[in-house]
Amino acid sequence: KVSPNIFEAMKETWLDNAKLQTLMTSFRENIERGLKKDTHPTSIVKCFPTYVQDLPDGTEKGKFLALDLGGTNFRVLLVELDVGKCDMKSKIFAIPADIMVGPGVDLFDHIASCLAEFVKEDDVVDQILPLGFTFSFPLMQKGLCVGILERWTKGFNCDGVIGEDVVKLLNEAIQRRDDVKIDVCAVLNDTTGTLMSCAWKNKNCRIGLIVGTGNNACYVETQQNAEMFDEPDMGSGKVIINLEMGAFGDDGALDCIRTDIDKSLDEDSVNAGRQLHEKMISGMYLGELVRLYMVKFTKDGLMFEGKLSDALQERDKFTCTYLSEIEADQPGKYIRQREILNEMGLSYASEQDCINIRYICECISRRSAHLIAAAMVTLINKMGETNVTIGVDGSVYKYHPHFRRLMIQKMTELIKPGFTFDVMLSEDGSGRGAALVAAVAAKKKPA
Ligand code: BG6
Ligand code: GLC
Repeated sequence: KVSPNIFEAMKETWLDNAKLQTLMTSFRENIERGLKKDTHPTSIVKCFPTYVQDLPDGTEKGKFLALDLGGTNFRVLLVELDVGKCDMKSKIFAIPADIMVGPGVDLFDHIASCLAEFVKEDDVVDQILPLGFTFSFPLMQKGLCVGILERWTKGFNCDGVIGEDVVKLLNEAIQRRDDVKIDVCAVLNDTTGTLMSCAWKNKNCRIGLIVGTGNNACYVETQQNAEMFDEPDMGSGKVIINLEMGAFGDDGALDCIRTDIDKSLDEDSVNAGRQLHEKMISGMYLGELVRLYMVKFTKDGLMFEGKLSDALQERDKFTCTYLSEIEADQPGKYIRQREILNEMGLSYASEQDCINIRYICECISRRSAHLIAAAMVTLINKMGETNVTIGVDGSVYKYHPHFRRLMIQKMTELIKPGFTFDVMLSEDGSGRGAALVAAVAAKKKPA
């Protein structure tokens, strides 16, 4: 059994349905503010229109390039679409840590150089292929291929990019090299790519959700409701809204549930005071939250006989992968957990410590899944559609052994009677999705 003191202390992470309902009301108000013309500019939940107004219908064709920046891996992809078919080749490139926080010019030069290497290797250097750029950060879009960076998130912090059009920066970097020709024809968020890739297969798909390094969602809104989107109706009467919901709470809306541990994680982050919802949900932070609880309980003499290891005191050392693996151990067995504790210099952990650690992990991942459930039900209520499919991607959703179940269970409790939903895993939103955005855009272009 979990030690009573630890069980009691972790109760601060429990979110009952009444609390979740309060958050849902507040999240809904935030979305309404984001959609209204006068409140949009100062809204915390940004609700950026994506300029993607049509979902794919499966008839899209052509050869496209895609770039995927902002998740665990930076990738370049070559995508070939034919009616109902999609072939893909991709290559992962590293982004050195100093580039993630260095001058923006270096970041874009690096991206352009990876792109050039890829098109040369794949022998498509002579074809000017359209490219869909999945840039998974908050972009204020002024068109399908104009995106102004509002802020960096998830550990990136490059100078000279905020307030600039990232497509222009990419084009300039490509021109500086002068060895490849690329037509960047769309910039999109990973949530949009996810929605598109799922909608291609499932016509009920209306939400794209990422629970990965970061957390965010987009959804299909009626254009009339998106008052701040000052563009002519392109025919569908719909527009996809990138919520940037990671910022929910940055005005205090989550203060009623944030703990001292949440506050301490935030204070030591590169973007203190920002992305507070994301910091309770996404993979970049879940492991660190568990580590901070372990440190606190050790200092209180409740774990490891009060002895901290060096690794346990190191920020970000306890990863979200650890959390997933610990929860994947069979209940009562601590096989992978023992290995992890050894890696953390905690080979002296007792069986009771193992029980407690697993419980801390469970509390943190459950809270994340419940916050996601509340947000998803809010969106379904907002859309008012009775049968919605949610397309999802991201390492937490994919690799955590219980996340999907916890999220669906809580959604089932929170959803209104008469409403149903499905959750489908996205297959390569940023490759197929980016190509589809480019293809749907190409269809619309006058001949
Ligand atoms: C990937 C997508 O599958 O998932 C990316 O290709 C996306 O575009 C990512 O950003 C999100 O998950 P993670 O865990 O890699 O951040
Ligand atoms: C961060 C980014 C957002 C992205 C999400 C998931 O919240 O700001 O744009 O969609 O991470 O990758």
